[in-house]
Amino acid sequence: MTDADNPGQGRYGIDLDLPADIPDPIRALLNRRVIRKYKADAISDQTMALLLSAAQSAPTKSNLQQYSIIIIRDPAIRDQVADLVPSMPWMKTAPVIAVFLGDLRRIRRLAEIRGHSYQNNNADTFMNAAVDAALAMQCFITAADHLGLGTCPISYLRNRIDDLAEILALPDGVFPIAGLCVGYPDDSGYLSMRLPQKIVVHQDRYDDSQLPGDVEDYDERAHGRFALSAAKQRHTDKYGVLEKCTWSENVARQLSLPERAGFADFLKRKGIKLD
Ligand SMILES: Cc1cc2nc3c(=O)[nH]c(=O)nc-3n(C[C@H](O)[C@H](O)[C@H](O)COP(=O)(O)O)c2cc1C
Repeated sequence: MTDADNPGQGRYGIDLDLPADIPDPIRALLNRRVIRKYKADAISDQTMALLLSAAQSAPTKSNLQQYSIIIIRDPAIRDQVADLVPSMPWMKTAPVIAVFLGDLRRIRRLAEIRGHSYQNNNADTFMNAAVDAALAMQCFITAADHLGLGTCPISYLRNRIDDLAEILALPDGVFPIAGLCVGYPDDSGYLSMRLPQKIVVHQDRYDDSQLPGDVEDYDERAHGRFALSAAKQRHTDKYGVLEKCTWSENVARQLSLPERAGFADFLKRKGIKLD
């Protein structure tokens, strides 16, 4: 039996009691993975219009549609953006990079045009815009998968957020959530194993009392399928390379040093308040 026949095994490394007749779109979701290498084949305008229609079909808070998408197809600009993240040179193989942006500017402009004051520059609006943009990105990803395209979000671009904002001419009120590499796959990627539902899903009320043991089991399963190479282990300069670097060790290592501490400052400078 293959993982495709037994999607619980594929996604979790454990058997799951799932319906026998899983609809194809859901089966495809259970088999979804990022792709980090693309063929040079261009993506047609029609296909892009379809993908963007799918993105814009995502739910959006109060239909406020507080996001924008910049489609980078010019190889020179694509390379400029990719150069911001030298550790991910495969970005340059993507014929398209779509940058998903929270956009609080459009509504502010509309308030002005309509002659109303704008009283919602706050953390909740920031959150709504980020969620809108993320949902649009996910709908784009799902549609791309159905069309045989591969994608990979790139939040690492936010490590160089000021340079990115300059290259893309981002005005006040607009902030990037992630870039999305898009292209026809030149690699099949791999199916990454997720935490079991008993860790992520809580019944009726929050309960993480079994976390240590449950994570240890997950660490064993994940390591058994895909041992983390030295290159994938975080901050080895500080912590060294482990023969067996588990998922929980690696995430704890990753978050032991501050990441993107300048993001709140960027938002402030772009006139976005988090009060
Ligand atoms: C918001 C977001 C940002 C991400 N940023 C990056 C990134 O900068 N570089 C990268 O290679 N992958 C990035 N990824 C991809 C994740 O690493 C990937 O989804 C995760 O390892 C699980 O693998 P899977 O999607 O194949 O299941 C990002 C994913 C998300 C959702």
